[in-house]
Amino acid sequence: MMKTIIEPFRIKSVEPIRMTTRAEREALIRKANFNTFTLDADDVLIDLLTDSGTGAMSAAQWSAVMRGDESYAGSPSYYRFRDAVQNLMPFKHIIPTHQGRAAEAILFSIFGGVGKKIPNNTHFDTTRGNIEASGAEGHDLVIGEGTDPASLHPFKGNMDLPRLARFLEEHGDAVPCVMMTITNNAGGGQPVALENIRAVAELARAFGKPFIIDGCRFAENAWFIKQREPGQQDRSIPDIVRDCFAVADGMTMSAKKDAFGNIGGWLALNDDDLAEVARTHLIRTEGFPTYGGLAGRDMEALAQGLTEIVDEDYLRYRIRTNEYIVERLDALGVPVVKPAGGHAVFIDARSWLDHIPPLEYPGQALAVALYEIAGIRTAEIGTVMFGRQPDGSEKPAAMDLVRLAMPRRTYTQSHADYILEAFEELAEIRRSLKGLRITHEPKLMRHFTCRYEQL
Ligand code: F0G
Repeated sequence: MMKTIIEPFRIKSVEPIRMTTRAEREALIRKANFNTFTLDADDVLIDLLTDSGTGAMSAAQWSAVMRGDESYAGSPSYYRFRDAVQNLMPFKHIIPTHQGRAAEAILFSIFGGVGKKIPNNTHFDTTRGNIEASGAEGHDLVIGEGTDPASLHPFKGNMDLPRLARFLEEHGDAVPCVMMTITNNAGGGQPVALENIRAVAELARAFGKPFIIDGCRFAENAWFIKQREPGQQDRSIPDIVRDCFAVADGMTMSAKKDAFGNIGGWLALNDDDLAEVARTHLIRTEGFPTYGGLAGRDMEALAQGLTEIVDEDYLRYRIRTNEYIVERLDALGVPVVKPAGGHAVFIDARSWLDHIPPLEYPGQALAVALYEIAGIRTAEIGTVMFGRQPDGSEKPAAMDLVRLAMPRRTYTQSHADYILEAFEELAEIRRSLKGLRITHEPKLMRHFTCRYEQL
C-alpha cells in the first residue's frame, strides 16, 4: 500500500493565478481598509477566505449542466436534484434555495421572532444573523472541549447534552426548535458524533421541539464518524449520512459546501404544514417550489455533486490535506486547532499573537499579515465576527481564530507547502504585528464590510 495520499483526480481545465509582489499587496490591503473581504479576488494568490462555492466541479458535473431543464414548473432537473438529496437525507419535503442563508431566512420566518431562543452547538454567522434579524436569540451550547483549541477530543463539535437539557427546561416555550451544525464550522470545522446527534434528537423530541440539522459539511462529518466513532468503521459514508439525518425533522443546507456546487442550497422538512408555510415564503422570495433560487442546470450539478462528495477516496484526500498542514504548523510551534477540521485549518491567533489584546483583533492582524507576506487570503473567526453584543457592547469572543478554508479539489500539494512557508516567515516577525481598530461597521455581521485602521 502506498503511503502518499494523492489528489484523486487529474486537472482538465486551469485558472491562472496573477502573481503580485509584497509591496503591491501592502498597498492593496490598505486600500481595502485591512478587510480581506474587501480585496479583489484578482489580487489574491491563494484564496482561503471560504470553502463555499469555490470548489472545482467535475467533468461529470459540467456535463450535467448541459442537461439542465429550465422549465418554470415541474422541471425534470428538480426531480433529479430532489432524488439525489433524498437518497442521502430522507426528508419528505426538499425545498431548493439559492444558498444556505436563504433556507435559514425561511426557517426563521417560521421559528424566529422576539423572545425566541434557539440553541445550537455553534450557530454560524449567517444563521445567527437570520435569528437575530427576526428578533430571536441564538445560543451556543457546544461541549467545553469545543472551545479549547488544544483539546484532542475526537468530536469537538458535540452538543453539551446536560446544558441543552437545562436550557430546554429553563426556557420551555421560548424554544421553537433545536439546531445542530455538522461539522461545527464556527468552532473549527470539528465533527459531531452520530451518538451525539441521536442524543440531541432524543432530547428535542422529549421536549416536543423540532430538531433541525445545518448539514453544510455532512460528508466530512460522516468521514470523521467513520474514522473515529466506535462501531462505524465498516459502514459506508452514505449509510452514516442517512443515519445522521434520519433522526432530524428538517435541515438547512448550503450546497456550496458538501454538494460541490458553486451556488445552491435547500431547506428540508418532514412536517406538511410547516413545508407549506415555507414554500409560500419561497415563492415570494426565491422562486417556484421546483426551482427555488436555482437554475435547472445548478440543480443538475448538485445532483451529480452529491454522488461525488461521499466518495471515500475524495474524503480521505480532503481531510488528509488539512492534517498535513496542521501537523507541520504544529511542528513549527504555530498554535492550531487540533485535531484538524474538515474544511479548514484554524490558527489560534489569540495565543500566537498574545501581545495583541482580543479587542484589538489578533485574528484580523494575522489575516492581514498572511496577505501581505504571501498573498494568502483568510478570514478572522473571533472577536470581529462574534464580539458585538445585541445590546451594543463589545466583548472578546470565545476564541480568536484565523480560518484557512480549503476550497474543494482546487489547490494542490505545492500550494499547501507555500502556505507553510508563509507561516515560517511569520514565525520570525509575529511579535512586530500590530492590532487594529474598527473605524466603521454596519449593524449586523460587521466582519464582511467593516473598515479598520492599524494601531
Ligand atoms: N451554515 C454554515 C455552517 C455555513 O458554514 C454557512 C456558510 C452557512 C450556513 C450559510 O450558507 O453561504 O450558502 O448562504 N458558510 C460559508 C463559510 C460562507 O465561509 O463558512 P450560504
